[in-house]
Amino acid sequence: MPVHYAGSSSAEIAASVETAVRAGTLPAGAGLPTVRALATDLGVSPATVANAYRSLRQRGLIETAGRNGTRVRFRPPVAPRASHRLPVPAGVRDLASGAPDLRLLPKLDAALRAIDPVPCGYETAGPLPDLVDLARDRLRADGVDAPAITIASGALDATERVLAAHLAPGDRVAVEDPGWANLLDLVAAAGLYPVPVPVDDEGPTPAGLGAALDAGVRAFVLTSRAQNPTGAAISPARAAALRALLAEHPDLLVVEDDHAAELSSEPLAPVAGTTRRWAFVRSVSKPYGPDLRVAVLAGDEATVARVEGRLRLGAGWVSTILQRLVVALWRDPSTADQVRTARDSYRRRREALLAALADRGVAVSGRTGINLWIPVPDEVAAVARLRDAGWAVAPGTLYRIEAPPAIRVTVSQMAETDLVPFADAIAAVLGPAHPRYSA
Ligand SMILES: Cc1ncc(COP(=O)(O)O)c(C=O)c1O
Repeated sequence: MPVHYAGSSSAEIAASVETAVRAGTLPAGAGLPTVRALATDLGVSPATVANAYRSLRQRGLIETAGRNGTRVRFRPPVAPRASHRLPVPAGVRDLASGAPDLRLLPKLDAALRAIDPVPCGYETAGPLPDLVDLARDRLRADGVDAPAITIASGALDATERVLAAHLAPGDRVAVEDPGWANLLDLVAAAGLYPVPVPVDDEGPTPAGLGAALDAGVRAFVLTSRAQNPTGAAISPARAAALRALLAEHPDLLVVEDDHAAELSSEPLAPVAGTTRRWAFVRSVSKPYGPDLRVAVLAGDEATVARVEGRLRLGAGWVSTILQRLVVALWRDPSTADQVRTARDSYRRRREALLAALADRGVAVSGRTGINLWIPVPDEVAAVARLRDAGWAVAPGTLYRIEAPPAIRVTVSQMAETDLVPFADAIAAVLGPAHPRYSA
Protein backbone atom coordinates (compact mmCIF):
# COMPACT_ATOMS: atom_id res chain seq x y z
CA MET A 1 0.00 0.00 0.00
CA PRO A 2 1.50 3.40 -0.92
CA VAL A 3 2.22 5.82 1.92
CA HIS A 4 -0.13 8.77 1.96
CA TYR A 5 1.97 11.80 2.89
CA ALA A 6 -0.32 14.78 3.26
CA GLY A 7 -0.76 18.23 4.72
CA SER A 8 0.16 21.84 4.29
CA SER A 9 1.47 22.48 7.81
CA SER A 10 4.22 20.65 9.64
CA ALA A 11 1.68 19.31 12.19
CA GLU A 12 -0.44 17.82 9.40
CA ILE A 13 2.56 16.30 7.64
CA ALA A 14 3.82 14.78 10.89
CA ALA A 15 0.33 13.40 11.58
CA SER A 16 0.24 11.74 8.16
CA VAL A 17 3.58 10.04 8.82
CA GLU A 18 2.37 8.91 12.24
CA THR A 19 -0.80 7.48 10.72
CA ALA A 20 1.26 5.56 8.15
CA VAL A 21 3.52 4.17 10.91
CA ARG A 22 0.49 3.11 12.95
CA ALA A 23 -1.17 1.50 9.95
CA GLY A 24 1.98 -0.36 9.01
CA THR A 25 2.27 1.24 5.55
CA LEU A 26 5.51 2.77 6.85
CA PRO A 27 6.95 -0.20 8.75
CA ALA A 28 9.90 -0.14 11.16
CA GLY A 29 13.10 0.71 9.28
CA ALA A 30 11.26 2.10 6.21
CA GLY A 31 12.88 5.11 4.56
CA LEU A 32 11.15 8.49 4.29
CA PRO A 33 11.54 10.84 1.33
CA THR A 34 14.14 13.58 1.61
CA VAL A 35 12.92 16.89 2.98
CA ARG A 36 13.34 18.50 -0.41
CA ALA A 37 11.50 15.76 -2.33
CA LEU A 38 8.54 15.71 0.04
CA ALA A 39 8.36 19.52 0.08
CA THR A 40 8.15 19.53 -3.72
CA ASP A 41 5.52 16.76 -3.71
CA LEU A 42 3.31 18.54 -1.19
CA GLY A 43 3.92 22.05 -2.52
CA VAL A 44 5.22 23.36 0.82
CA SER A 45 8.54 24.88 1.85
CA PRO A 46 11.42 22.61 2.88
CA ALA A 47 11.34 24.28 6.31
CA THR A 48 7.78 23.00 6.87
CA VAL A 49 8.80 19.40 6.13
CA ALA A 50 12.00 19.79 8.17
CA ASN A 51 9.86 20.93 11.13
CA ALA A 52 7.59 17.92 10.74
CA TYR A 53 10.57 15.56 10.67
CA ARG A 54 12.11 17.31 13.70
CA SER A 55 8.98 16.80 15.79
CA LEU A 56 8.73 13.14 14.72
CA ARG A 57 12.40 12.67 15.60
CA GLN A 58 11.92 14.25 19.03
CA ARG A 59 9.07 11.87 19.71
CA GLY A 60 11.16 8.88 18.70
CA LEU A 61 9.17 7.88 15.62
CA ILE A 62 11.92 8.45 13.08
CA GLU A 63 15.68 8.71 13.08
CA THR A 64 18.39 10.04 10.85
CA ALA A 65 20.47 7.15 9.59
CA GLY A 66 23.50 9.00 8.24
CA ARG A 67 23.91 8.64 4.50
CA ASN A 68 20.88 6.35 4.41
CA GLY A 69 18.58 9.29 5.03
CA THR A 70 15.65 9.29 7.44
CA ARG A 71 13.82 6.14 8.46
CA VAL A 72 11.19 4.90 10.87
CA ARG A 73 12.75 3.73 14.15
CA PHE A 74 12.74 0.00 14.75
CA ARG A 75 10.36 0.39 17.69
CA PRO A 76 8.49 3.66 17.26
CA PRO A 77 6.34 4.58 20.28
CA VAL A 78 3.10 4.22 18.32
CA ALA A 79 3.71 0.64 17.19
CA PRO A 80 3.06 -2.65 18.96
CA ARG A 81 5.83 -3.54 21.36
CA ALA A 82 7.32 -6.43 19.41
CA SER A 83 7.10 -4.81 15.99
CA HIS A 84 10.86 -4.70 15.45
CA ARG A 85 11.14 -8.46 15.60
CA LEU A 86 10.76 -10.42 12.42
CA PRO A 87 8.62 -13.52 12.94
CA VAL A 88 10.79 -16.60 13.38
CA PRO A 89 9.85 -19.08 10.62
CA ALA A 90 9.00 -22.67 11.51
CA GLY A 91 12.12 -24.81 11.79
CA VAL A 92 14.36 -21.85 12.69
CA ARG A 93 15.82 -21.81 16.24
CA ASP A 94 15.21 -18.48 17.98
CA LEU A 95 18.47 -17.12 19.40
CA ALA A 96 17.31 -13.52 18.93
CA SER A 97 14.89 -13.03 21.79
CA GLY A 98 17.10 -11.74 24.64
CA ALA A 99 14.62 -13.38 27.01
CA PRO A 100 15.28 -15.69 29.95
CA ASP A 101 14.37 -19.36 29.62
CA LEU A 102 10.84 -19.57 31.03
CA ARG A 103 11.54 -23.13 32.18
CA LEU A 104 14.24 -21.79 34.52
CA LEU A 105 12.07 -19.16 36.21
CA PRO A 106 10.89 -20.02 39.73
CA LYS A 107 7.40 -21.51 39.76
CA LEU A 108 4.85 -19.27 41.45
CA ASP A 109 2.61 -21.85 43.17
CA ALA A 110 4.25 -21.72 46.61
CA ALA A 111 4.52 -17.92 46.54
CA LEU A 112 0.87 -17.60 45.48
CA ARG A 113 -0.15 -19.77 48.43
CA ALA A 114 2.10 -17.85 50.82
CA ILE A 115 0.91 -14.31 50.13
CA ASP A 116 -1.45 -12.47 52.43
CA PRO A 117 -4.89 -12.76 50.78
CA VAL A 118 -6.36 -9.65 52.45
CA PRO A 119 -7.36 -7.04 49.84
CA CYS A 120 -5.54 -3.74 49.92
CA GLY A 121 -7.32 -0.42 49.36
CA TYR A 122 -6.20 3.05 48.32
CA GLU A 123 -5.21 4.10 51.83
CA THR A 124 -2.63 1.39 52.49
CA ALA A 125 -1.33 0.82 48.95
CA GLY A 126 2.11 1.94 47.84
CA PRO A 127 5.61 0.55 48.12
CA LEU A 128 5.26 -2.48 50.41
CA PRO A 129 7.34 -1.90 53.57
CA ASP A 130 8.36 -5.58 53.72
CA LEU A 131 9.61 -5.47 50.14
CA VAL A 132 11.45 -2.18 50.67
CA ASP A 133 13.13 -3.55 53.83
CA LEU A 134 14.20 -6.75 52.11
CA ALA A 135 15.46 -4.76 49.11
CA ARG A 136 17.45 -2.44 51.37
CA ASP A 137 19.17 -5.41 53.04
CA ARG A 138 19.93 -7.05 49.71
CA LEU A 139 21.35 -3.86 48.23
CA ARG A 140 23.43 -3.15 51.33
CA ALA A 141 24.92 -6.63 51.12
CA ASP A 142 26.04 -5.68 47.61
CA GLY A 143 27.53 -2.35 48.67
CA VAL A 144 24.65 -0.06 47.68
CA ASP A 145 23.53 2.11 50.57
CA ALA A 146 20.50 4.04 49.38
CA PRO A 147 18.89 6.90 51.31
CA ALA A 148 15.54 6.10 49.67
CA ILE A 149 13.85 3.19 47.91
CA THR A 150 10.62 2.85 45.96
CA ILE A 151 9.08 0.27 43.65
CA ALA A 152 8.48 0.66 39.91
CA SER A 153 7.00 -1.55 37.19
CA GLY A 154 10.26 -2.94 35.85
CA ALA A 155 13.64 -1.50 34.96
CA LEU A 156 12.52 0.48 31.94
CA ASP A 157 9.61 2.02 33.82
CA ALA A 158 11.98 3.03 36.62
CA THR A 159 14.50 4.45 34.14
CA GLU A 160 11.87 6.37 32.22
CA ARG A 161 10.55 7.90 35.43
CA VAL A 162 13.99 8.86 36.70
CA LEU A 163 14.93 10.47 33.39
CA ALA A 164 11.61 12.34 33.30
CA ALA A 165 12.17 13.52 36.88
CA HIS A 166 15.33 15.40 35.93
CA LEU A 167 15.61 15.91 32.17
CA ALA A 168 13.78 17.80 29.44
CA PRO A 169 13.44 16.97 25.71
CA GLY A 170 16.64 17.86 23.88
CA ASP A 171 18.90 17.00 26.83
CA ARG A 172 21.88 14.76 26.12
CA VAL A 173 22.16 11.39 27.79
CA ALA A 174 25.29 9.21 27.79
CA VAL A 175 24.36 5.63 26.89
CA GLU A 176 26.38 2.49 26.37
CA ASP A 177 27.29 1.74 22.75
CA PRO A 178 26.46 -1.00 22.01
CA GLY A 179 23.61 -0.85 24.49
CA TRP A 180 20.17 -2.17 25.23
CA ALA A 181 17.85 -1.53 22.25
CA ASN A 182 14.85 -0.85 24.51
CA LEU A 183 16.73 1.89 26.32
CA LEU A 184 17.78 3.51 23.04
CA ASP A 185 14.13 3.45 21.93
CA LEU A 186 13.02 4.92 25.24
CA VAL A 187 15.61 7.71 25.08
CA ALA A 188 14.44 8.54 21.54
CA ALA A 189 10.77 8.49 22.56
CA ALA A 190 11.50 10.93 25.41
CA GLY A 191 13.05 13.39 22.94
CA LEU A 192 16.47 12.96 24.55
CA TYR A 193 19.67 12.89 22.58
CA PRO A 194 21.87 9.79 23.06
CA VAL A 195 25.62 10.29 23.30
CA PRO A 196 27.42 6.95 22.78
CA VAL A 197 29.93 5.66 25.33
CA PRO A 198 31.92 2.64 24.07
CA VAL A 199 31.81 -0.54 26.15
CA ASP A 200 34.52 -3.15 26.64
CA ASP A 201 34.51 -6.31 28.78
CA GLU A 202 34.74 -4.26 31.98
CA GLY A 203 31.92 -1.87 31.14
CA PRO A 204 31.72 1.68 29.76
CA THR A 205 35.20 3.03 29.03
CA PRO A 206 36.46 5.98 31.08
CA ALA A 207 37.66 7.68 27.88
CA GLY A 208 34.17 7.30 26.40
CA LEU A 209 32.49 8.67 29.50
CA GLY A 210 35.00 11.54 29.58
CA ALA A 211 34.13 12.46 25.99
CA ALA A 212 30.39 12.27 26.74
CA LEU A 213 30.86 14.53 29.78
CA ASP A 214 32.76 16.97 27.60
CA ALA A 215 29.82 16.86 25.17
CA GLY A 216 27.58 18.19 27.94
CA VAL A 217 25.49 15.14 28.88
CA ARG A 218 23.10 15.65 31.78
CA ALA A 219 22.68 11.96 32.57
CA PHE A 220 24.49 8.65 32.21
CA VAL A 221 22.72 5.28 32.01
CA LEU A 222 24.90 2.22 32.52
CA THR A 223 24.55 -1.49 33.22
CA SER A 224 26.29 -3.19 36.17
CA ARG A 225 26.49 -6.73 34.86
CA ALA A 226 25.30 -8.88 31.98
CA GLN A 227 25.34 -5.79 29.80
CA ASN A 228 22.94 -6.21 26.96
CA PRO A 229 24.18 -6.98 24.30
CA THR A 230 27.90 -7.46 25.10
CA GLY A 231 27.82 -9.36 28.42
CA ALA A 232 30.21 -6.84 30.00
CA ALA A 233 30.40 -6.64 33.79
CA ILE A 234 31.77 -3.57 35.53
CA SER A 235 34.95 -4.59 37.34
CA PRO A 236 35.99 -3.00 40.66
CA ALA A 237 38.84 -1.16 38.89
CA ARG A 238 36.50 0.17 36.19
CA ALA A 239 33.93 1.20 38.78
CA ALA A 240 36.64 3.16 40.62
CA ALA A 241 37.74 4.89 37.40
CA LEU A 242 34.17 5.82 36.47
CA ARG A 243 33.42 7.04 39.98
CA ALA A 244 36.50 9.25 39.91
CA LEU A 245 35.28 10.87 36.70
CA LEU A 246 31.74 11.26 37.99
CA ALA A 247 32.95 12.85 41.22
CA GLU A 248 33.92 15.87 39.13
CA HIS A 249 30.34 16.19 37.86
CA PRO A 250 28.21 16.17 41.01
CA ASP A 251 25.06 17.33 39.20
CA LEU A 252 25.07 14.54 36.65
CA LEU A 253 22.17 12.10 36.93
CA VAL A 254 23.48 8.52 37.02
CA VAL A 255 21.10 5.61 36.42
CA GLU A 256 22.57 2.17 37.02
CA ASP A 257 20.71 -0.89 35.75
CA ASP A 258 21.52 -4.10 37.63
CA HIS A 259 18.99 -6.25 35.81
CA ALA A 260 20.96 -9.50 36.08
CA ALA A 261 21.00 -9.22 39.89
CA GLU A 262 21.07 -12.67 41.49
CA LEU A 263 21.65 -14.29 38.10
CA SER A 264 25.09 -12.80 37.74
CA SER A 265 28.12 -14.80 38.79
CA GLU A 266 30.17 -11.58 38.85
CA PRO A 267 30.09 -9.55 42.08
CA LEU A 268 28.55 -6.09 41.92
CA ALA A 269 30.93 -3.10 41.70
CA PRO A 270 28.44 -0.23 41.92
CA VAL A 271 29.00 3.13 40.27
CA ALA A 272 25.82 5.02 41.19
CA GLY A 273 25.88 7.08 44.38
CA THR A 274 28.87 9.24 43.47
CA THR A 275 26.81 12.16 42.23
CA ARG A 276 23.97 14.01 43.97
CA ARG A 277 21.30 12.58 41.68
CA TRP A 278 21.31 8.90 41.15
CA ALA A 279 19.24 5.78 40.84
CA PHE A 280 20.17 2.15 41.17
CA VAL A 281 17.57 -0.04 39.48
CA ARG A 282 17.20 -3.74 40.13
CA SER A 283 14.45 -5.47 38.21
CA VAL A 284 13.15 -8.90 39.16
CA SER A 285 12.43 -9.70 35.49
CA LYS A 286 15.42 -11.86 34.63
CA PRO A 287 15.86 -13.97 37.80
CA TYR A 288 12.20 -14.24 38.90
CA GLY A 289 10.10 -13.46 35.82
CA PRO A 290 9.37 -10.50 33.52
CA ASP A 291 5.63 -10.81 34.19
CA LEU A 292 6.04 -9.76 37.82
CA ARG A 293 6.70 -6.21 36.54
CA VAL A 294 8.57 -5.20 39.67
CA ALA A 295 11.83 -3.29 39.99
CA VAL A 296 13.46 -1.83 43.07
CA LEU A 297 14.42 1.78 42.52
CA ALA A 298 17.00 3.02 45.04
CA GLY A 299 18.52 6.46 44.96
CA ASP A 300 18.92 9.86 46.54
CA GLU A 301 15.91 11.20 48.42
CA ALA A 302 14.93 13.89 45.91
CA THR A 303 15.00 11.55 42.92
CA VAL A 304 13.02 8.81 44.63
CA ALA A 305 10.50 11.32 46.02
CA ARG A 306 9.95 12.81 42.55
CA VAL A 307 9.41 9.39 41.00
CA GLU A 308 7.08 8.20 43.75
CA GLY A 309 5.13 11.47 43.78
CA ARG A 310 4.63 11.42 40.01
CA LEU A 311 3.68 7.74 40.06
CA ARG A 312 0.98 8.55 42.62
CA LEU A 313 -0.61 11.04 40.25
CA GLY A 314 -1.05 8.46 37.52
CA ALA A 315 -0.83 4.70 37.91
CA GLY A 316 -0.76 5.20 41.70
CA TRP A 317 1.50 2.33 42.73
CA VAL A 318 2.73 -1.08 41.65
CA SER A 319 0.04 -3.57 42.68
CA THR A 320 0.83 -4.88 46.14
CA ILE A 321 -0.27 -8.29 44.91
CA LEU A 322 2.83 -8.34 42.71
CA GLN A 323 4.97 -6.86 45.48
CA ARG A 324 3.70 -9.50 47.92
CA LEU A 325 4.62 -12.19 45.43
CA VAL A 326 8.18 -10.88 45.20
CA VAL A 327 8.44 -10.82 49.00
CA ALA A 328 7.26 -14.45 49.11
CA LEU A 329 9.74 -15.45 46.41
CA TRP A 330 12.63 -13.68 48.14
CA ARG A 331 11.81 -15.31 51.47
CA ASP A 332 11.63 -18.81 50.06
CA PRO A 333 15.02 -20.60 50.19
CA SER A 334 13.96 -23.00 47.44
CA THR A 335 13.48 -20.03 45.09
CA ALA A 336 17.05 -18.96 45.78
CA ASP A 337 18.13 -22.49 44.82
CA GLN A 338 16.20 -22.27 41.56
CA VAL A 339 17.78 -18.90 40.73
CA ARG A 340 21.24 -20.35 41.39
CA THR A 341 20.42 -23.28 39.11
CA ALA A 342 19.36 -20.84 36.37
CA ARG A 343 22.51 -18.78 36.89
CA ASP A 344 24.73 -21.85 36.52
CA SER A 345 22.80 -23.09 33.53
CA TYR A 346 23.15 -19.75 31.69
CA ARG A 347 26.83 -19.64 32.53
CA ARG A 348 27.39 -23.17 31.22
CA ARG A 349 25.61 -22.40 27.97
CA ARG A 350 27.48 -19.12 27.48
CA GLU A 351 30.87 -20.65 28.22
CA ALA A 352 30.20 -23.69 26.04
CA LEU A 353 29.34 -21.48 23.07
CA LEU A 354 32.35 -19.23 23.67
CA ALA A 355 34.59 -22.30 23.73
CA ALA A 356 33.02 -23.79 20.60
CA LEU A 357 33.51 -20.47 18.79
CA ALA A 358 37.10 -20.16 20.04
CA ASP A 359 37.79 -23.69 18.69
CA ARG A 360 36.76 -22.35 15.29
CA GLY A 361 38.97 -19.28 15.58
CA VAL A 362 36.10 -16.91 16.42
CA ALA A 363 37.11 -14.74 19.38
CA VAL A 364 34.05 -13.37 21.13
CA SER A 365 33.67 -11.78 24.53
CA GLY A 366 30.75 -12.17 26.89
CA ARG A 367 31.66 -12.31 30.58
CA THR A 368 28.16 -12.49 32.02
CA GLY A 369 24.53 -12.84 31.10
CA ILE A 370 22.63 -14.55 28.36
CA ASN A 371 23.86 -12.69 25.27
CA LEU A 372 26.95 -12.81 23.09
CA TRP A 373 27.91 -9.96 20.80
CA ILE A 374 29.66 -11.23 17.70
CA PRO A 375 31.29 -8.69 15.36
CA VAL A 376 30.50 -9.35 11.70
CA PRO A 377 31.47 -7.45 8.56
CA ASP A 378 27.89 -7.16 7.32
CA GLU A 379 24.91 -7.54 9.66
CA VAL A 380 22.21 -7.95 7.05
CA ALA A 381 24.18 -10.66 5.25
CA ALA A 382 25.09 -12.43 8.51
CA VAL A 383 21.48 -12.44 9.78
CA ALA A 384 20.19 -13.70 6.41
CA ARG A 385 22.82 -16.45 6.07
CA LEU A 386 22.23 -17.67 9.61
CA ARG A 387 18.47 -17.66 9.04
CA ASP A 388 18.99 -19.76 5.92
CA ALA A 389 21.05 -22.14 8.05
CA GLY A 390 18.19 -22.38 10.59
CA TRP A 391 19.19 -19.79 13.23
CA ALA A 392 17.49 -16.50 14.09
CA VAL A 393 19.83 -13.92 15.63
CA ALA A 394 19.33 -10.22 16.30
CA PRO A 395 20.91 -7.63 13.99
CA GLY A 396 23.31 -5.37 15.89
CA THR A 397 21.84 -2.23 14.38
CA LEU A 398 19.12 -2.27 17.05
CA TYR A 399 21.75 -1.96 19.77
CA ARG A 400 24.44 0.33 18.42
CA ILE A 401 25.02 3.95 17.55
CA GLU A 402 28.65 4.21 16.43
CA ALA A 403 29.88 0.74 17.42
CA PRO A 404 30.88 -1.47 14.47
CA PRO A 405 28.48 -4.07 13.00
CA ALA A 406 27.72 -7.23 14.98
CA ILE A 407 24.97 -9.69 15.74
CA ARG A 408 23.49 -10.53 19.14
CA VAL A 409 23.03 -14.16 20.07
CA THR A 410 20.92 -15.15 23.10
CA VAL A 411 22.15 -18.37 24.71
CA SER A 412 19.41 -18.69 27.35
CA GLN A 413 17.50 -21.33 25.42
CA MET A 414 20.34 -22.94 23.56
CA ALA A 415 20.36 -26.74 23.80
CA GLU A 416 23.57 -28.73 24.01
CA THR A 417 22.78 -30.22 20.61
CA ASP A 418 22.68 -26.69 19.11
CA LEU A 419 26.27 -25.89 20.04
CA VAL A 420 28.27 -27.55 17.30
CA PRO A 421 25.94 -26.78 14.37
CA PHE A 422 25.50 -23.17 15.50
CA ALA A 423 29.23 -22.58 16.04
CA ASP A 424 29.84 -24.13 12.60
CA ALA A 425 27.25 -21.80 11.08
CA ILE A 426 28.88 -18.75 12.68
CA ALA A 427 32.33 -19.86 11.52
CA ALA A 428 30.94 -20.31 8.01
CA VAL A 429 29.46 -16.81 8.03
CA LEU A 430 32.73 -15.29 9.22
CA GLY A 431 35.16 -17.68 7.59
CA PRO A 432 37.34 -17.32 4.51
CA ALA A 433 34.84 -19.33 2.46
CA HIS A 434 32.51 -16.34 2.70
CA PRO A 435 32.27 -14.67 -0.74
CA ARG A 436 32.91 -11.27 0.86
CA TYR A 437 36.40 -12.44 1.73
CA SER A 438 37.22 -14.47 -1.37
CA ALA A 439 36.53 -11.56 -3.71
C1 LIG B 1 19.73 -4.27 30.16
C2 LIG B 1 18.39 -4.71 30.66
N1 LIG B 1 17.85 -4.05 31.70
C3 LIG B 1 16.66 -4.43 32.21
C4 LIG B 1 15.96 -5.50 31.70
C5 LIG B 1 14.66 -5.85 32.32
O1 LIG B 1 13.72 -4.89 32.02
P1 LIG B 1 12.31 -4.85 32.72
O2 LIG B 1 12.55 -4.82 34.18
O3 LIG B 1 11.69 -3.57 32.24
O4 LIG B 1 11.56 -6.08 32.33
C6 LIG B 1 16.47 -6.20 30.62
C7 LIG B 1 15.72 -7.30 30.02
O5 LIG B 1 15.97 -7.72 28.91
C8 LIG B 1 17.72 -5.79 30.10
O6 LIG B 1 18.27 -6.44 29.07
